[in-house]
Amino acid sequence: MVGNRILSAIALSLSIAFAQQAFAQSPNVPKYTGDMLLFPDGFRTWVFVGSNLGLTYKGEATTDAPTFHNVYINPEAYAYFRDKGEFPDPTIFVIDMFASATKEPQHIVAKGSYDGTWAGNLVAVKNSARPPGPKGEKTIWAYYIFTDPAHPSQPAASAAAQPDDNCEACHKLHGLKDHVWVQFYPTLRDLKK
Ligand code: HEC
Repeated sequence: MVGNRILSAIALSLSIAFAQQAFAQSPNVPKYTGDMLLFPDGFRTWVFVGSNLGLTYKGEATTDAPTFHNVYINPEAYAYFRDKGEFPDPTIFVIDMFASATKEPQHIVAKGSYDGTWAGNLVAVKNSARPPGPKGEKTIWAYYIFTDPAHPSQPAASAAAQPDDNCEACHKLHGLKDHVWVQFYPTLRDLKK
């Protein structure tokens, strides 16, 4: 009996410790240093909303090899969107980009392409309390490029918001739902109404 009690006391304290740890790790909110957004480390464990291959925007320079875009949303924003059909304030989206590769050293691949060399991260943040953009922008959605030409194999630690004309304008005009291209993301577009 005493042994059982000790065991359940241990189990209780373990579960409290686990809950505290989980609490410390969440929620996933945008973090800044000055006006710069810190890179949202750990986004690959968030909710994966969809991917596309070689989607290029009108006017954008194209390369021969198409690029994979793998898109993630922070889990809190996903749950809110699932329940209410709106993106909460704050919401974070990350595009993880990869060159499409068709060959590997073992020569096993006969056909098809996969995520090859990492090619950068783009981030969109909905945050009414965001730091201003380069022209004093305070639009609720801000867009960031984390590709650092000086370190092509890893994302920059922080990034400044892009001017609204570069990113926000197209998203506002053409994103299906509140600046977001929900039309391309099965995890969001196929939610039961
Ligand atoms: C001409 C239109 C256009 C412009 C300009 C544009 N985007 Fe997008 N963006 C898209 C489309 C289309 C998608 C759909 C998915 C994709 O590209 O992988 C998208 C998706 C995204 C996403 C995923 C979340 C979402 O909103 O759907 C991020 C993050 C993003 N773009 C960042 C940027 C950044 C950063 C810039 C500016 C440097 C930018 N975009 C400029 C059209 C645009």
